Amino acid sequence: MKKKAFLFDLDGVIVDTAKFHYLAWRNLAKEMNFDFTEEQNELFKGVSRVQSLEILLDLASYEATQEQKERWLIQKNEEYLKYIEAMDDSEILPDVVRVLNFLHEKNQGVALGSASKNARSILTKLNLIQKFEAIVDGNDVTAAKPDPEVFLKGGEALKIERTDCIVFEDSIAGVQAANAAGMVSIGIGEKDVLHEADYVFADFTEMSDAFLASLIEA
Ligand code: BG6
Ligand code: MG
Repeated sequence: MKKKAFLFDLDGVIVDTAKFHYLAWRNLAKEMNFDFTEEQNELFKGVSRVQSLEILLDLASYEATQEQKERWLIQKNEEYLKYIEAMDDSEILPDVVRVLNFLHEKNQGVALGSASKNARSILTKLNLIQKFEAIVDGNDVTAAKPDPEVFLKGGEALKIERTDCIVFEDSIAGVQAANAAGMVSIGIGEKDVLHEADYVFADFTEMSDAFLASLIEA
């Protein structure tokens, strides 16, 4: 059997943390007298913390000093971590564990490719950290998605050629990063949002073992 690398994004693919990021950003937005909507939160998916703040300041037409930005970044993360603290493995998205177990049974490479600097602590909290042979996260990259760096590093860590890497992503920026890396991109979410992906599934419950096997054999 061939050995491929399966690179998982974290937020929105393994666990639904987007709602916690949203709550924390929304509370920060209130300090800018800005009403941050869930639709606008879509723009934040896959985007680094620093860039997310820049987008929010832009949306709110708010000019902040460097010092204020740094304070807000800490404040946002502290609030986000409070939500994460209360989270347990019941928050793992449906069938993620089945897919991880299937890939392990088939001896495939499995790595994380996430923009989050909290990735390791979240995976630990979810009891999933031992399922990842390599973790590349927001602490390891200099260029954010849609730059392919995070996935290229994931493939390198597993010593698998980029054309033998398969990426699971819920964000537009992440799908673009996978495509830019020359990898197979699999969108997890809505087809019309993730239309640049090679395949799109609403979630992992729709992805059969037979489909995963076909990716391994391709
Ligand atoms: C991405 C999320 O995975 O990580 C973004 O989709 C988030 O919404 C980014 O901003 C950075 O996360 P963190 O945990 O480092 O603030
Ligand atoms: Mg994501």
